[in-house]
Amino acid sequence: MAEQTLVIIKPDGLSRRLVGRIIQRFEDKQLQISSIKKETLTQTQLREHYHQLVEQPFFPRLVSYMTEGPVLLLVLKGDNAVLQTRKIVGATDPMEAEMGTLRGDLGMDKTRNLIHASDSVDSAAEEITRFFG
Ligand code: PPS
Repeated sequence: MAEQTLVIIKPDGLSRRLVGRIIQRFEDKQLQISSIKKETLTQTQLREHYHQLVEQPFFPRLVSYMTEGPVLLLVLKGDNAVLQTRKIVGATDPMEAEMGTLRGDLGMDKTRNLIHASDSVDSAAEEITRFFG
């Protein structure tokens, strides 16, 4: 079923010049870019986006990482886009992510895990509205 999902290529994805390789992997699976923009996220946007995590001890570290430079926000479209994208991205912790996934191959640790991808159709809709209106 055709779906849309939100992907954020986190600041180190840009500073490490990995954007082309990351997008290639999505396009290889027939996921199409329907919107894309580069933006430096604010504390307010991050508090909203990660609202379930604000009480976590790692939250300040997460915000500091996510604001160290611009991110790339993408809306991807395709069959089962939410699940397909999560599979390409891999597990949250790059040390646990399978090799062959983006985080398994390129991620550094649980903070610097390179990419965010929506975890359900409902959160994808919410996140796409949040960042693209
Ligand atoms: S997931 O992928 O949403 O199911 O992962 P989850 O474990 O729920 O984590 C949600 C986001 O929190 C980030 N996270 C951390 N950041 C910094 N330090 C630590 N220890 C940590 N643990 C989890 C994780 O990278 C997820 O970010 P996103 O951007 O949603 O992938």
